[in-house]
Amino acid sequence: MARASTSQVHGIFEKIAGYYDRMNFLMTLGRHGRWCREVADRVAPPRGGKLLDLATGTGVIALEAARRYPAVSVTGLDFSQEMLRRARSKPGADAVRWQHANATCLPFADASFDAITEGYLLRNVEDLDRVLREQHRVLKPGGRLVILETCPPSGPVKPLMAWGIRVLVPAVGQLVACDRSSYAYLESSTRHFHSPQSLAEVLRRTGFQDIGWHKKFFGTNVIMWAAKAP
Ligand SMILES: C[S@@+](CC[C@H](N)C(=O)[O-])C[C@H]1O[C@@H](n2cnc3c(N)ncnc32)[C@H](O)[C@@H]1O
Repeated sequence: MARASTSQVHGIFEKIAGYYDRMNFLMTLGRHGRWCREVADRVAPPRGGKLLDLATGTGVIALEAARRYPAVSVTGLDFSQEMLRRARSKPGADAVRWQHANATCLPFADASFDAITEGYLLRNVEDLDRVLREQHRVLKPGGRLVILETCPPSGPVKPLMAWGIRVLVPAVGQLVACDRSSYAYLESSTRHFHSPQSLAEVLRRTGFQDIGWHKKFFGTNVIMWAAKAP
């Protein structure tokens, strides 16, 4: 399943919520937490400001941001009630406002947030431009966006990494969660998603500037950043 509809994506995340954190730890060999800390570090919202973590899932980035910036109001948004239920039950969850909504149509006024973070949202959406335009709309002028996303493998390690993602991810899904098909979707959505160069183009045409990125873990993941013009 290279492309999935919004309702199929929603169904997958409702289904995998119970073992999402464990699978993420295994698939990134424990690096996911470190990348989320880097996302929170890079976004650096102003004291007294407002930060929105989209596709918050089990809340790893939102909780890290709330811990790191106690003087910032943090909202974690997701369209999966099951993922949000896990987020709400974690230590420190009271410091975050949890919101059930779709990232395609954000329930916020224009220029509401100083900063936006998101982990693994963009490859799951049907209309990437619309989702990024929504983020641009709710950011204040000068606001910052930091994205954690997977990358299709490239460069000399491409055959090895492509094999690893294609074979190992669904196999670990089967072993840990008895759920090969959900993880086969996650694998194919990674393989067919934009490279950082191509995602930077989409960010530019949806209004963002000052775009940069760091690849992680043999180029299979990337942290990208961008800003709305002041
Ligand atoms: C792979 S999880 C990432 C969770 C978290 N950001 C992390 O890094 O661990 C992707 C999340 O995106 C959410 N999601 C996907 N499409 C969405 C949409 N259109 N609106 C809101 N949430 C969405 C899913 O429900 C899921 O919780």
